Amino acid sequence: TRSSDQEDLPHATKRKMADHLRRLETMFTLTPQRMRMIVEAFKDALELGLSKSGQVVPMIPTYVFGWPTGKEAGNYLAVDLGGTNLRVCLVTLQGGGKWEITQTKYRLSEEQKHDEGQLLFDFCAECLKAFVESSIESGTIQRGAVLPLGFTFSYPCSQDKIDHGVLIRWTKGFGAPNTEGRDVVEMFKRSLEKHNVPAEIVALTCDTTGTLIASHYVNSDTKIACIFGTGCNAAYMERARDIPKISSLGIGSEDEIAINCEWGAFDSFEHEHLPRTKYDIIIDEASNKPGEQAFEKLISGRYLGEILRLIICELIDEGVLFLGQNTYKIEIPYSFDTAFLSLMESDPTDELLMIIGIFSHFFAVETTLAERQFFRALAKLVGRRAARLSACGIAAIVSKMGYLEEGCAVGADGSLYNKYPKFAERIHEGLVDIFGEKGRGITTYHAEDGSGIGSAIVAAMTKNRKEANVY
Ligand code: GLC
Repeated sequence: TRSSDQEDLPHATKRKMADHLRRLETMFTLTPQRMRMIVEAFKDALELGLSKSGQVVPMIPTYVFGWPTGKEAGNYLAVDLGGTNLRVCLVTLQGGGKWEITQTKYRLSEEQKHDEGQLLFDFCAECLKAFVESSIESGTIQRGAVLPLGFTFSYPCSQDKIDHGVLIRWTKGFGAPNTEGRDVVEMFKRSLEKHNVPAEIVALTCDTTGTLIASHYVNSDTKIACIFGTGCNAAYMERARDIPKISSLGIGSEDEIAINCEWGAFDSFEHEHLPRTKYDIIIDEASNKPGEQAFEKLISGRYLGEILRLIICELIDEGVLFLGQNTYKIEIPYSFDTAFLSLMESDPTDELLMIIGIFSHFFAVETTLAERQFFRALAKLVGRRAARLSACGIAAIVSKMGYLEEGCAVGADGSLYNKYPKFAERIHEGLVDIFGEKGRGITTYHAEDGSGIGSAIVAAMTKNRKEANVY
C-alpha cells in the first residue's frame, strides 16, 4: 500500500509528469498576441449582435433605460433563478444608495434542471409563497399586500418589453423541456396564480444587468458588470443610436439601454477563435448542448473542475498517475468540483496537505508530493487561462465603447471571481497584456448583489417610469 508521505515515485514517472506539464503549459497558455486577436474577433461579434437579431452573441436590449438615480425606494420581492441555487428575497430600498435585504436560498437538484419547465416555475412559486408567509408572520410584510416582484432569470431571453422574455436556449447544464421558445414571465405568472402568491412580476432581468445597475447605484464609475460563476456573462450600457437592430422602435437616439451580452456564446458552433484543447472538445461534445456556449465552457465554474478531471483521467490511463490504486471515483464525470481548484491553488502548506485531503477524502486515493505539485500546477494553468480569456471579453467591451482613455470600473460577481485566489489579479494582468500600461485604468471590484438588490432597483426604476408615463 502507498501512504501519503511515500515520495518514491520512479524516476521515469516523474520525468513523464514533467513532460506532460510542459505539453499542457503550451496548450493552456495564452500569449498577449493571441489575446489581442481574440479581442478583435470578440469586438466584431459584439457589433454583429447589436446590428441584427439572431446572432451568435445575442446582445440583448434589456429595456432597462439608463442608470438608477440612487433615490429608488420601496419594498420589493426578488426571485433569483441562477445556475446552482434559487433565492427568494425581500428588499427594502431606502433611497440614498441604501437598502435592507432578507433572503432564503434553496439548492436546485439536477432532476429539477431537467424536469418539465412549468414544474421549475411551480417550485419557484412555492418557495416564494413559503417566504412571503413567514415574512407576514414576522411582520416584515403586511398581510393583504401585493408586492412588486423582480424576477432574475439568468439565461438568454429575448425581450420586447421589461416584463416579458422568451427563453432563447438553456445554458449552464439546464434542459427543462417545454421552456425554450416560450415567455418565462408568462410561465412564472401561471405558477404564482396557481399557488396564490401575492406578488406581481414587474421586471425580468438577468444577473449581469442586475449587477450593472446595483453596482452603479453605489459606484457611479461602473460601466460594465460581469458574472464569473457557474456561468459567465457581461452587461453594459449602450447608446440606443448604436443598436441598429432596435432603430425602428422609436427609442430616442440619445437614450441609453442596458445590454445583456450573453457573451458566453462567443465563438459557438464555428469555433474559429478560441484556443480549445482536446479536453474542452470532450466537455463540449458530452454536454447537453454541444457547440453552444463555447466561451463559457472554457471559463466558468461549471466546467473548470471537469477540465482538470479529464487531464487527470488521461494520465491515469497512461499509467502516469495513481499507479496501482483504484481510481473509479475520480473517473465519474463532473465529480471534481471547481472549488477544489481554488483550494489546490491556495494550499499554504509545504506538504500541500489540503491537496492530500481532497484526494483522499473525496476520491479515496493517496498522493505523493510530486503528484500534488503537479496538480497544483495544472490548476494554475486552467485557472489562469480562464482569467485571461475573461480579460479578453472585458477588453472587447472596453475597446468597443472607447473606455480605455478615461478608464472604467467593472463590477464583478460570482463564485470564481469571489473565491478563486488570484482570479481578479490574473484578469488585471491580462488587461495589461492586451492594452499595455493603459490597461491598469480598467479595474474590477466585487460588485453588489445584482440578482437581489439589482433586480429590486430595476423593478423600482420600471415602476417610476410607468408612474411618469414614459413608454
Ligand atoms: C449564463 C447565462 C447568462 C448568465 C450567466 C451567469 O451564461 O446564459 O444569462 O448571466 O450564465 O450566470
